[in-house]
Amino acid sequence: MLADRFGRSIDYLRVSVTDRCDLRCSYCLPKGFKDFEEPAHWLTHEEITRVVAAFARLGTRRVRLTGGEPLLRRDITRLVRTLSALPGLDDLSMTTNGTQLTRLAGPLRQAGLGRLNVSLDSLRQDCMATITGRDCLDKVTAGLEAARMAGFTRIKINMVPLAGVNDGDIEAMVAFCIAQGFVLRLIEAMPMGSTGQASRGLDLQTVLADLTKRFGLVKAAETLGGGPARYWQTPDGGFTLGLITPLSQHFCATCNRVRLSVDGTLYLCLGQEAAYPLGPLLRAGASDAELEAAIREAIEYKPERHHFNEAPTRVMRFMSMTGG
Ligand code: 5AD
Ligand code: SF4
Repeated sequence: MLADRFGRSIDYLRVSVTDRCDLRCSYCLPKGFKDFEEPAHWLTHEEITRVVAAFARLGTRRVRLTGGEPLLRRDITRLVRTLSALPGLDDLSMTTNGTQLTRLAGPLRQAGLGRLNVSLDSLRQDCMATITGRDCLDKVTAGLEAARMAGFTRIKINMVPLAGVNDGDIEAMVAFCIAQGFVLRLIEAMPMGSTGQASRGLDLQTVLADLTKRFGLVKAAETLGGGPARYWQTPDGGFTLGLITPLSQHFCATCNRVRLSVDGTLYLCLGQEAAYPLGPLLRAGASDAELEAAIREAIEYKPERHHFNEAPTRVMRFMSMTGG
């Protein structure tokens, strides 16, 4: 099992299969942004598979595919099929913006993808267009429907409430998730890159107090997914709310993850620049043992915690490089 200097077990890997995205969410990417990683630097499917397999041999049980937008990566279904067959992995999931799901939900399910998180910040067409830079609400809701039809259950909706933008949309989103059987996760906007730093997210402790009163929420017994979200539910268990509160209540002490970007860099903390390049090693023909040794060494550099509150301008990279 991989463990860092602070005694945390690292058993969860997030893999960004592309930093490209068809949206420009205001808290993530600047309008008109085009400065993406060059294809020549992308890890191939085979290289991604090698890294994931090495992590699996080192005790990683859970892998999440992210982007940018992971469904823009060519042949993503083939990659999912390969990864889902790797020995040792028992949870393969994906975070997507949902715009390609009408086409891909079925094939992804058949390829062995276990779980889906879909970003959705508003149910108002104009508000979604304002946040994402594209008129995409209908596409995303149709994608969610396709995902349900394909057999995905407990689909999670990721919403980043922004002051004065979509903070009035939370109750409607709760109602939508109750009706559709989705889990709603509210996320505090993190100061990643110039975009994240310019965003005014909400302190979710206040939101929780409001929603608790309104829906009679109680603390959920189960912890879904083993991540940092803390969960509440309605007394009948029909609706589950997750809160991800990196700013108002950070969870670094139980952090269990590292992130691989499309160029093969292992990012050791979302809120720090600490990173370890695996790309050169892979291209130099490193053996499995050398790859595992490099991963073990990289984990040594995992920082104790982020400093989003104390040093909000420190992380220059955009969220799209590591996909949350
Ligand atoms: N702060 C918090 N969440 C973010 N996401 C993207 N950028 C930020 C940010 N600055 C979220 C998206 C998506 C997930 C991949 O990360 O909403 O659901
Ligand atoms: Fe794309 Fe996700 Fe970033 Fe939005 S948050 S621009 S969907 S990568």
